[in-house]
Amino acid sequence: MTILGIETSCDETAIAIVEGKTDHVELKTNVLATSLALHAKTGGIIPEQAAREQIKYILPTLKKALDTPDTFDTLKQIDAIAVTYGPGLIGSLLVGVETAKTLAFVLNKPIIPVNHMVGHIYANFIRETREQGTGNRKNQNTSLVPDPYSLVPTFPLLALVVSGGHTDLLLMKNHGDFKLLGGTRDDAAGECFDKSARLLGYPYPGGPKISQLAEKGNPKAFAFPRPMLGSHDYGFSFSGLKTAFLNATREHFPILRTSDKTIGWQQIILENKLSTKEKQTVYDLCASLQLAIVTVLVRKTLKAAQEYKVKSILLSGGVSANQLLQEQFEENIKQTLPETQLFFPEKSLCTDNGAMIASAAYFNFNPMPWKDITADPELYF
Ligand code: KG4
Ligand code: ZN
Repeated sequence: MTILGIETSCDETAIAIVEGKTDHVELKTNVLATSLALHAKTGGIIPEQAAREQIKYILPTLKKALDTPDTFDTLKQIDAIAVTYGPGLIGSLLVGVETAKTLAFVLNKPIIPVNHMVGHIYANFIRETREQGTGNRKNQNTSLVPDPYSLVPTFPLLALVVSGGHTDLLLMKNHGDFKLLGGTRDDAAGECFDKSARLLGYPYPGGPKISQLAEKGNPKAFAFPRPMLGSHDYGFSFSGLKTAFLNATREHFPILRTSDKTIGWQQIILENKLSTKEKQTVYDLCASLQLAIVTVLVRKTLKAAQEYKVKSILLSGGVSANQLLQEQFEENIKQTLPETQLFFPEKSLCTDNGAMIASAAYFNFNPMPWKDITADPELYF
């Protein structure tokens, strides 16, 4: 079965084609257009602007995904259309939903509405061909598993969804069977990265920048809190950590206390103006923040993995691209749960893409009449 997936929940216009292969899907085409550079100029995503960019990009992206002189004929080869219907920005979501509905109506194909967060989880079931990928399947017993492309997640499994708006831990006993064990009470892990980066003057998405600056820093320099590490549930909270980062930054960079904040941000981002010692402080702040976020995510997930005796742990969402997070999971699983297999998507499939939406639709094939599908910005699990 061949599925076309459309994802337009935020600032990315993404369309992909995957082919279902029983226990995984094979990536055929993956096209993405992003309005990120535009939002960097304004310091954050303006929903109205993101929606306008979606309208601009959607047809060229579709055309590129089909990439053939006879687009209409290629569309006929597709068995179903999958589309993100929430959560996300309403204007952006509508562009994808209405495009998918039009295609489904004109081509008389089934249409499957997909929850964006579920889509992130299913990025772990996408297998690229050897030519496309670098090997996205990670297993601590690599000597026992010579071919990383042959691995697929097995149930029961734990899925950690860490993105810009969500930090959720789910237990899955089968496809489509989601039990939410815990979520964030305030900010998501990605938001903590993004807001902290913004404080230093870096635009969205801040996670990759913090991670890059952290490479030169000492992760033990600042004793940032590990929120809710000792709690008896699987909830998360990152707003306190964000405040701790703000306070520590203000302490070392008084400009943030004394002047207009915007000027403060610009002062810090102008790294060339900083002394060597001040630069090191920025690196240390980033390394300490990153370690605090990663420690909480790893420890709480592993505690749940032990309690529910899962066979696989799946990382997903933009933050799962974080190298320290991947490494710490690998290391800790090796030590404490050697039978458990760890999965995280290929880097380009950690962040928003159309392939994950098509993959989720393949394993949860629940078509709906196109007339009944509406965008739902507040959708949850
Ligand atoms: O899944 P995603 O692309 O969009 C949402 O659904 O939110 O996730 C975006 C989030 C942002 O918060 C971004 O800062 C974070 O993922 N992110 C990272 C990294 N790459 C992306 N966070 C930490 N380290 C990274 N390498
Ligand atoms: Zn996402």
